[in-house]
Amino acid sequence: MVIACARSPQATRPATITPTRCFPRYAMLPALASRALLLFLLPNVVPAGGRPIDGGSNMERIVGGTNADIKDFAHQLSLEVMFMHSCGASVISETFALTAAHCVFGMPRQPPWFVRLRAGSTSGFLGIGGEMHAIDYVEPHASFNKTTTDFDIGLIKVKRPFTFSSRISPIKVVDERHYVKVGSIATVSGWGMTSERALFTPWTLHSVDIPVVDRSACNHNYTAHGAKISERMICAGGTGDGKDSCQGDSGGPLISQDRQLIGVVSWGYGCARAGFPGIYTNVAHPDIRRFIREAAGV
Ligand code: ARG
Repeated sequence: MVIACARSPQATRPATITPTRCFPRYAMLPALASRALLLFLLPNVVPAGGRPIDGGSNMERIVGGTNADIKDFAHQLSLEVMFMHSCGASVISETFALTAAHCVFGMPRQPPWFVRLRAGSTSGFLGIGGEMHAIDYVEPHASFNKTTTDFDIGLIKVKRPFTFSSRISPIKVVDERHYVKVGSIATVSGWGMTSERALFTPWTLHSVDIPVVDRSACNHNYTAHGAKISERMICAGGTGDGKDSCQGDSGGPLISQDRQLIGVVSWGYGCARAGFPGIYTNVAHPDIRRFIREAAGV
């Protein structure tokens, strides 16, 4: 069995905290190829924590979320590597998508043809439908730190502009220093794992509502695991109600109730563990917001 994510939960900095090691990314092309082979050998229903993860009406999505329609998340993109969903991203203008730095880190600035964005489709994993976009260039933040996951923000410029419709439309990027209030509810969406122990990402887009939580409380727990929550990070979830983003959601959008992009899925200790919120790139932080404005003009 090919398992997408190394799951050694302990060590000073748990493996799950290092996003690039945890989910098939560009750097793991050989692993991706064997996963593709497995797909043709396995039936469509895949166990996640003992339960089927797909095919039902009230099955769990993200972790503890529900099925979502692309029309309600028309900014949501899937970054595909070798025809497989790898990361989330968001449409922020006609030619730019926003994602996590770790999703594009290690790629050549002009990635090969098999790195593409899928827009306007509800399906992920081996996605179908929507429109495919070849990539002009990728630009991770110059200060992105692979070890600390600080400055986890990146831009993707597409060759052909997005055709805006009910299924593809840009999300407003929150203003600089417009810090979201602790306790306010945000929504995260993506094609990520439905549980920490899942083997595959789901076919269908999903979303979940989670509260933004206090950075210092969040930092307190994470510090015990050798990780630090910087000013460029927002914590959300971790309240013990089983709701979170997970591997494969990285790069995807965390939006506020008034539909502004406030965070980008970045990392976390496991998924949906009580006391360990999901960590999102803080889009309103001046260093992050300035990067988006200067590099994408948004
Ligand atoms: N790093 C993961 C990815 O690459 C995202 C992890 C989010 N984890 C969480 N507990 N919210 O897809």
